[in-house]
Amino acid sequence: MGTLRTVTLNPSYDDHFEVADLTWGGVGRVVSYRSQPAGKGVNAGRTAHHLGIPTCVYSLVGTPDLEDFSARLTAEGVEHRLEPVEATTRHNLTLTQVEASTIAAHTVGDGFHLPDRSAADSLFGRLIQETEPGDVVTLNGSLPAGLPPEIWRDLARDVADAGARVVADVQFTALARVVEAGRITAAKPNEEELLALPGVGRDLPRRDAVAVALRTLADHDVEFPLVTLGPEGVAHLADGVVRLSWCPVEVPRKSVGAGDAFVAGLCAALLRPGGPAPVDLGLATAAAHVAGLERADLRRQVAVNLGLIRTVEGLGSL
Ligand SMILES: Nc1ncnc2c1ncn2[C@@H]1O[C@H](COP(=O)(O)OP(=O)(O)OP(=O)(O)O)[C@@H](O)[C@H]1O
Ligand SMILES: [Mg+2]
Repeated sequence: MGTLRTVTLNPSYDDHFEVADLTWGGVGRVVSYRSQPAGKGVNAGRTAHHLGIPTCVYSLVGTPDLEDFSARLTAEGVEHRLEPVEATTRHNLTLTQVEASTIAAHTVGDGFHLPDRSAADSLFGRLIQETEPGDVVTLNGSLPAGLPPEIWRDLARDVADAGARVVADVQFTALARVVEAGRITAAKPNEEELLALPGVGRDLPRRDAVAVALRTLADHDVEFPLVTLGPEGVAHLADGVVRLSWCPVEVPRKSVGAGDAFVAGLCAALLRPGGPAPVDLGLATAAAHVAGLERADLRRQVAVNLGLIRTVEGLGSL
């Protein structure tokens, strides 16, 4: 089997506080706390590792955090290559209240501001050197300030030249640029992100915007054009037909990172042909993540979820 290689240029620590008796301006109680190395590719790589897929995470990281970030990934068994930059790694905050099942707040820190692209180029050099035909490489998340939006497109071309497949989960102008590479296996904007694609205007009704986004991706030879729609599932094109698929979650606990879990499942299926379809494994994995599961629990739930997936032709009631 090939290896999944994820690329993150704007990593973070995700700090999750679970609190009780929260009153703004008052004194509450911290029930649990966890701080994890994160960033979209780090998250996707971790989930793929939990699915049993050979994975290597490539990421920039702040120099002061290099040792710690690396040690934590090692402790989790997640293989990684880190390229230091002269900055500290941002911290994102997720706050949940024990009294409620949903997240109370999710706040995201400012990413890196880089003087030039040299650190990214070193990271990419290492990635291309290690990439083998049959691997899947994911381009994940936002670009640090100071990097040009073409950077993901150029990397996509180099990855394709190395014989590996590219899955893009990128945003804004970088999304419009990356599809120009013309050799993308899958791209999965969410409903906000699809607005960056050519031809998709804010004035379009919701279902038209999704349909135009899918056609635009297909016109750029994206093999799996996808738009993820949160709890409503994923819109996709198969044999030229627009479909909507979803996987229900009884008690949703964690919507943050659902897209990263989707990418992990999708790539796992690309690397294990003959098993579930990429869209199905993406949905099943995202649903298990949203249910709050990890590791062996996540794997077990993915198997169950594969039997719960529903698909309709068209975009349903969207
Ligand atoms: N509440 C939910 N119930 C069931 N499935 C969900 C729910 N929320 C998300 N999902 C699943 O996760 C997938 C990705 O979610 P979403 O569209 O929110 O991604 P995203 O915005 O890229 O998320 P992120 O960037 O935070 O990882 C959806 O296509 C769906 O399959
Ligand atoms: Mg996303």
